[in-house]
This record gives sequence, C-alpha cells and structure tokens, in this order.
Amino acid sequence: AWTTASIVTEQIAAIREQVGDGRAICGLSGGVDSAVAAALVQRAIGDRLTCVFVDHGLLRSGERAQVERDFVAATGVRLVTIDARERFLGALAGVTDPEQKRKIIGREFIRVFEQAERDLKAQGDYRFLVQGTLYPDVVESGGGANAANIKSHHNVGGLPEDLQFELVEPLRLLFKDEVRRVGLELGLPETIVYRQPFPGPGLGIRIIGEVTADRLETLRAADAIAREELTAAGLDRDIWQCPVVLLADVRSVGVQGDGRTYGNPVVLRPVSSEDAMTADWTRLPYEVLERISTRITNEVAEVNRVVLDVTSKPPGTIEWE
Ligand code: XMP
Repeated sequence: AWTTASIVTEQIAAIREQVGDGRAICGLSGGVDSAVAAALVQRAIGDRLTCVFVDHGLLRSGERAQVERDFVAATGVRLVTIDARERFLGALAGVTDPEQKRKIIGREFIRVFEQAERDLKAQGDYRFLVQGTLYPDVVESGGGANAANIKSHHNVGGLPEDLQFELVEPLRLLFKDEVRRVGLELGLPETIVYRQPFPGPGLGIRIIGEVTADRLETLRAADAIAREELTAAGLDRDIWQCPVVLLADVRSVGVQGDGRTYGNPVVLRPVSSEDAMTADWTRLPYEVLERISTRITNEVAEVNRVVLDVTSKPPGTIEWE
C-alpha cells in the first residue's frame, strides 16, 4: 500500500543510497516544502545535513523563532542562521518600485546563500544540495506556461554555477497534501505543516513605498494581530492566506482620545483559492474584521485606519506588489 509511512521509509532509503557518506546543505525558507525535505534528509543522514536559514529582516513576527526553536526541536537538525537584516535594508534603501524590490531581494538572497554554501564547503565535503521541489514544480518547469512574467518570483536555492552541487529532491513525486502528511509523520508541528503561503520577498512587497526598519516594525505588529485573530476565530484552514499591506506613503486624518491623528492605513487582503492562480476575496465574519480593526488601531500607534480589499484575482493579484 502507498501509505505515508511507506513513502517516508522509501525516501529515506533513496536518500541514503544517493548521498552515501557525503554531506548535504538545505536552505530553509520557513515554508512547508523545504522544512519537510530537510526533515526527511535529516532522518536519513543526521548531522551530515546542515540547514541554512537567511534572516533577511522581511520576516513576520515569530518566524525566525519558529525555524530556530520549533523546527530544530522537532527534528534535531543542525542549523546555521545568517543574520542579513542590515544588508537587505541597505540594499532596499530608497527603492519603491515593486519589480526593483523583488529583483534586489532575490539578488541579495542568492549572494548571501552562496556565501553560506562556500563557507560550508570550506569546512567539509558538502556535495549535495537539498531542495523541496514538488511534483507540480517539476511539471511546470518542464515547459508549462506559468504566470512568472507578471511578477518576478523569488525562491530559496538556485544553483550557483561554480559550486556544483548534486541535487537531492526527496519530494519530487509528491503533491502538497502528501508533503503535509509526510511532515506530520515526521513529527513536524502543525504550525509548520499547515503554514499558509508567504512570498519569498516577504514583507518587502507588503510595504507600498520604501522599506524601512520602522515601517517593517509597524507592519509586523499589524500582521501579528490579524494572524492572531484569524487563528483565534478558527479560520486558518478556510482562507488561503491573508496578506496585511502597509500603505506607507498614504496618510489619513483620524481622531483618537482627544487628539487628531495623521497616520497610515493598512489593508487586509484575505483570499480563498485552490492554487493561487485565481482567488476570491474571503467573506470574513464582520465580528472578526471588527476585532482585527479595533486591535490594530489601538495597539499599533502609526496605523489609524484599516481597510478591506474586496478584489478577486484576476484582476487583482494576491500580493499588492
Ligand atoms: P500573486 O501576488 O502573484 O501571488 O497573486 C500568488 C501566490 O504566490 C505568492 N508569491 C510568492 N511566493 N515567491 C514566492 O515563493 C515570490 O516571489 C512570490 N510572490 C508572490 C503569494 O503570496 C501568493 O500565495
């Protein structure tokens, strides 16, 4: 029978066969696929796998801890975190154009990751690179049409030509739901296994305007509240994702206590979708919207207005940039 347990056993055997007594590197994005791929390879070769996690400073609240604490606790994986926050902020200074942001973040990410690969290679014989490629990715890159030209997508990994790794792709025959089952079988927490999609460029493309440390802090606080309330309302599995977007260059007048405010709006973008190619805006319950709005405007000083995005995709994309 093709059970999850048998997939795990078979893949572990295949990884051992491929890697032998070699060493492997795996970039973690915080997402499901790289986490499950890494957990499988860790089961197969233990400490001969090293995971690399780049903190580009565009993460949401708690995401770095989720990798450093929860993922490591669940797997015992050897992890190197690279703090590249200053570098990314510096590279993004003064940039407002969405495509330029995406290109800069993608470029810096590859540079940081390649440097980490070089450092590891200098320490030992790392010949293998683990990637969380899924079956649909394999099919798509075989020439299928995708919407990649609408926005330049950025993902972890990418093969530097001069480093010459052999790829280990233990998920390449699996669909997303199977990957999730494998993750659960391997003991990964549900917060990782059922994590909603989050774009590689992170909060950098959810701040409309220049990305600065202060704006990131504001958006992180608003986003954490929205996520908390959606989780508390039991809605995580009903929505595909709910980006929170900071309109950093827009200000509007408000009133709070006995004072006038002149702050920024945030946009809630809850969407329902099967595959992110098309999406509908999610009809969230009014009480949940109310709680999110009240809390954000009370708890996040810079934000004095919360608005709801009621656009489907098409014509709107899910992310604003
Ligand atoms: P859009 O905005 O194109 O987003 O409707 C579709 C889905 O893709 C996610 N997204 C990304 N994921 N790297 C990623 O790994 C990216 O550069 C990227 N841009 C968008 C988005 O969150 C949504 O789920």
